[in-house]
Order: sequence, then C-alpha cells, then structure tokens
Amino acid sequence: MYFEDMPVISAEEIGEGLRFAARQVLRNLPEFTQQFQKAYSEGGFYRPTPNRDWTTGFWTGEIWLAYEYCGDERLRRAGDIQIDSFLERIDQKIEVDHHDMGFLYSPSCVAGYKLTGNPKGREAAVKAADQLISRYHPVGEFIQAWGPMNAPENYRLIIDCLLNLPLLYWASEETGDEKYREIAEKHIHTAVKNVIREDFSTWHTFFFDMETGAPDHGATCQGYRDGSAWARGQAWGIYGCALAYKYTGRKEYISVFKGVTDYFLAHLPKDMVPFWDLEFTDGDDQPRDSSSASIAACGMLEMVKYMEKEDAGIYRKYAMQIMKSVYDRYAVKDFAVSNGLVLHSTYSNRSPYNTCNHCGVDECNIWGDYFYMEALTRLQKDWILYW
Ligand code: GLY
Repeated sequence: MYFEDMPVISAEEIGEGLRFAARQVLRNLPEFTQQFQKAYSEGGFYRPTPNRDWTTGFWTGEIWLAYEYCGDERLRRAGDIQIDSFLERIDQKIEVDHHDMGFLYSPSCVAGYKLTGNPKGREAAVKAADQLISRYHPVGEFIQAWGPMNAPENYRLIIDCLLNLPLLYWASEETGDEKYREIAEKHIHTAVKNVIREDFSTWHTFFFDMETGAPDHGATCQGYRDGSAWARGQAWGIYGCALAYKYTGRKEYISVFKGVTDYFLAHLPKDMVPFWDLEFTDGDDQPRDSSSASIAACGMLEMVKYMEKEDAGIYRKYAMQIMKSVYDRYAVKDFAVSNGLVLHSTYSNRSPYNTCNHCGVDECNIWGDYFYMEALTRLQKDWILYW
C-alpha cells in the first residue's frame, strides 16, 4: 500500500468543489457559448477559440456536468448550441482527420443526447464514429492516430486512443451495427499488447510495419524521453484499461489495470499529483500535470465497479486521496485567479525528446478541468458515463 496516511476527500469538499465548478462554468457562458475554451489557459485565463482543436469537447462536457449538477436551463441551451457546432464540424469535415473523435464527440454530443435526447447529438456522434473507423488499418489491426493514412512515419497508434473507443461501442449500441464494436475490440487488443511495457510503464505511441502489420517500436511525442512514462499517457492507460474491461469483459484487463495503476502510484510524489513525466519526483525542478491525477482517479472510480470488494476499496481510497490533494492544492477557489478549474497542468513541455509543440505548461488544461468535474461527479453520485 502506498500513501497510507493521506486523507481522503470529504462529502462536503466534493459538494463544494462541484458547486464552485458549476458557478465558474455559468460565469463563463457569455464568452464561451458560440466559441469554446482553448486547450490551455494563459496566465490562468482561457481565451475563446472556434471549434477546431481536438480538445473542444471537454468544454462542452463541463457544461453538461454542470447541468447535471444544478439543472440550470442556461447550461442546457449552451450545450445544445455547441452540439450544433459539432454537427456542422463533422458535416463539413473541419479538422477531423485524426483519431480524437471520441474526445470530441463523447463528452459533447453523446453526453447531450443521453441527458436530453437531442437528436442532433446522436446524428453528429454517429457520423464521428464513422469518421473514426475510417482510420482503421486491418494490417496491424489498429486505428491510426495522426496524419495522412498509410505513410510509414504515421503508421502508429497512441495510448490516448483508448478514450476514443467508447464512441464506437456507443455507436454499435445505438445503430445496431456491430462494425464499430469489432474495430474497437481489435484496436484495444493491439494497443494493450504493445503500448504497455513489461514493468507496466507505457509507451506514448507505437509503430507497426506497414507491409506485415508486425509491431515495430515505441516512441514518445509528449514525454520526457522514449523509455520514460509520460504521466498523462500512463493516466490514459489507467482509464483506458478500465473502459476496455467495461466494454469487453476480458478478465486479463483487470490485472493490466492493476499493473498500470500501481506503476503510476509508485511514481507519484508525496502529494499524489504527478510531475508531467513519471521520471520526475519531489525535488525535481519540473512542472506538474494535475490533469493526469484527475484522469487516473476517474479510471480507478470506473474500475472499482467491477473489482472484488477488497481491491475496490483499495483503489477507491487512492482515487479519493488523489482528489483530496487536487481539491486542496490545485483547484481554483477564487474567480479572480482563473476562469478555469484546476491549476498546474501541463499540455506539452519542452524536452530534448519531446517532438510536440511547447504549450500549456503549468496552466489550466481544458481536459484537466473536465476530468476534475467528472471525478467529483463520480464521487457524488452513480454517474452514467459519457464515455
Ligand atoms: N491526447 C493528447 C494529450 O493528452 O495531450
């Protein structure tokens, strides 16, 4: 057991965290209904952005979580306006040539459809699922993450994609067409087999041979170095394994979940909120990624539903300890400090190995805010997943 002495978040703190979050979302609606919050804040404040990036669904997801919390009709109206924007985006194929259809359409359109029955949410999400399966490679059995299809330098999957797959399970249930589920299952299997290393740390991305489909090599884009464990990749792995089990029922994913989660826990600093890469810990002059803490907590809170009582108690406690730390030390509590919800998150930090842009370092990140609200909502009630 790790962190025996860390306190767990209380019911009052969960309630207060959600109350503040819903107020913050409501305060933001005038500026962020026709537009979206950007992927990251600057000096603690998000600027508006059109619906183009892979991240805009998280803002709409916050609106729906706030609506679930307080039922304010202004939130529902804003959520519906944003669903219109997502439908237009998929119809016009605006920046959808990548795998992040689940991140975009699950917390926005699937959520809105589940909560209010908005038929445009259903239509947009089914179209997004079609777009997602168009990136499937039978040779290698995976969904290609980025870039033009069939280029060797892009012939890879990334661990984050595990969160894009629930859209496919939802689409199969909704349409009765098994093709979405079949592709999701193939991808999950390929991903779990290849991105998780023997010690249960994770690769961010993994390449396959274009001719034979054979696994080739792992590489990072957003981590410190290829062999390290990028904190958010590990957190996507935790939540991804929980969802993989939920949707496939394959028992082996429970032990993979435990391995990946225990690796994450064993590499956390004292306050249980990781640095941006698990290579770093207390004493290192590196930024945190608070978003990884909330993502991991959501994954644990999902998985405990399917575990034996003793294990369920253990991982639920970890999730509640992590959220106590996020709430106490990282959550915004003053509107003057930020228009976001959680500080000290890192999108992409500069390092000799990181091939992605340097941005959103030690700021709010929009998915960090979303998963903070999701974790608190999960702790407050029996939550019906958007994923
Ligand atoms: N899915 C991209 C990221 O986690 O930054």
